[in-house]
Amino acid sequence: MGNCVIKAKNIKKTFERADVKTEVVRGIDLEIAEGEFVAIVGESGSGKSTLLYLLSGSDKTSEGVVELFGKNLEEASDDELARMRRQMFSFVYQYDNLVSNLTAYENIVLPLMLDKKNLKDEEERISELIDYLNIKNCVDKFPKELSGGEQQRVALARALAIEPSLIFLDEPTGSLDTTMGKQVMELLKDINEKRNVALVMVTHSKAHAAYASRILEMADGKIAG
Ligand SMILES: Nc1ncnc2c1ncn2[C@@H]1O[C@H](COP(=O)(O)OP(=O)(O)OP(=O)(O)O)[C@@H](O)[C@H]1O
Ligand SMILES: [Mg+2]
Repeated sequence: MGNCVIKAKNIKKTFERADVKTEVVRGIDLEIAEGEFVAIVGESGSGKSTLLYLLSGSDKTSEGVVELFGKNLEEASDDELARMRRQMFSFVYQYDNLVSNLTAYENIVLPLMLDKKNLKDEEERISELIDYLNIKNCVDKFPKELSGGEQQRVALARALAIEPSLIFLDEPTGSLDTTMGKQVMELLKDINEKRNVALVMVTHSKAHAAYASRILEMADGKIAG
């Protein structure tokens, strides 16, 4: 295996409320290589989203270690994690990825602005990205004026704007019909193959998981197969 973008060692997550403890992630070892496309499937409640949050540093493990780009997340400061999020990896959710009072274009360049990039220098690349995702007609519209598929393509443009090495996706096609879902999956496959971006995608769809090069099945907080 080439260099790893993610290494997780025996990670666990327990939620505690009052005197009730729920073990949601129950000891997972995982290595994901540069440029890999991994799908995570499993029943509702099996811990898929929780795992994604742990791997991306959005939530802390109760036990075990996650290394993201070689950095132990336990030892990473908030600033370091925020910098990684601005420059190295993106996150795409099932829906509501976009800021509602910004246009699609403003949404796409938002991560660059947060990273204090000069937008003039990035204009050509962003315009190429907009062509690539076929959303030229969307750029001046607000999210609520876009279809679900258009919104997800804008969300992908935003995810790609920072030229990440890795994108986490939590059911990116979950709110789309079959045709739009397929379109987004074809794009993801292309993004993975042509741009060598590693993808870690949670999905309910067996057909969509088949686009990945590796499928992990989660059951009861563990990876089954
Ligand atoms: N913050 C929390 N506090 C307490 N329990 C939680 C919390 N977050 C998740 N859980 C519980 O952990 C379990 C796994 O949740 P998770 O969202 O990871 O499942 P999932 O596999 O993503 O499900 P779905 O396919 O429905 O999205 C669920 O039983 C859920 O109720
Ligand atoms: Mg989930």
